[in-house]
Amino acid sequence: MFKKSLLLQIILKYMSNNILLNTIGNTPLIKLQKINPYFNVEIYVKLEFFNPSGSIKDRMVKYIIEDAEAKGLLKKGGTIVENTSGNTGAAIAMLAAIKGYKAILTMPDKVSIEKQSSLKALGAKIVITPTSAPPDSPDHYVNTAIRIASEIPNSFRVNQYDNPKNPEAHYLTTGPEIWEQTKGKVTHFVAAGSTGGTISGVGKYLKEKNKSMKVVMPDPVGSIYYDYFKTGKIEVHGNCTYQVEGVGEDHIAKAMDFSIVDDMYKFTDQDAFSTARLLAIEEGIFGGGTGGANVWGALKLAKTLKEHAVIVTIIPDNGVKYLSKFYNDQWMKDNNYSI
Ligand SMILES: Cc1ncc(COP(=O)(O)O)c(C=O)c1O
Repeated sequence: MFKKSLLLQIILKYMSNNILLNTIGNTPLIKLQKINPYFNVEIYVKLEFFNPSGSIKDRMVKYIIEDAEAKGLLKKGGTIVENTSGNTGAAIAMLAAIKGYKAILTMPDKVSIEKQSSLKALGAKIVITPTSAPPDSPDHYVNTAIRIASEIPNSFRVNQYDNPKNPEAHYLTTGPEIWEQTKGKVTHFVAAGSTGGTISGVGKYLKEKNKSMKVVMPDPVGSIYYDYFKTGKIEVHGNCTYQVEGVGEDHIAKAMDFSIVDDMYKFTDQDAFSTARLLAIEEGIFGGGTGGANVWGALKLAKTLKEHAVIVTIIPDNGVKYLSKFYNDQWMKDNNYSI
């Protein structure tokens, strides 16, 4: 059998690693053709499932890990630990495989089986926690990750909720791409948030480019963000037991900059799932539930606009990750959603 020399193996590894990581970002921006009935408004979706691990989180994870390496916070043989709803975990597992780190990822049990299995396939260890655990419980997925990181020597926690490098990654990449791809014509940006990294980083960049830019955030019923934005208080504790995965929160993330947001809408699981399924059937765009929520928000916003406008929103991840959930008719029926 052909045996590669050690030097050739090293060169090939170096080259292919760079090629894979270099495919992060520069994702397509597509205009909705059929499901937007508002002729004065153009709606564009940025297809973040084109990133190599299948979601927008590749951008932020690559940026944070390479920054940690440069600062000596993540060393050879180290372990990357993080709490995730699956997409950040897939990005971490991919980077850990490429760069030779170990990865331990904590996830609430509502995360789809496809996402859990992908992380294992990429060689990560996963720890499942109860979705119902409140933010102050030691069993909450964030607290579990903090504990694990404190117990393992030579570990690094990405800390996506509170790390300013998270919105910075979007300020430096996603925001400029949207500005360039619309040739500066974008007038509104819509994105639901969890860590808030996407909306805060993109919104900041676009507002610096155009002072009249408007930023709107859809938020799931059960999340605390909507009430916090409207009243400045956390009156009702969110429980995050809604089924849409990856947006809304039960605590305020430091990466989330509410001063960037002009308005928020509340959406239901049904809004998100029905719109995601419509996107797939009518536009051929096979995205996750948060992509559905974002497009639902963009359509709700479009309805209020009288002048010509250009709305950009995000499809954060791939529908394949939810085949056992809202793309499954039986699951929809079992969970009392209409199809
Ligand atoms: C599917 C999905 N959509 C949207 C988001 C929200 O992105 P951000 O954390 O940048 O607010 C996430 C975050 O985990 C996600 O997994």
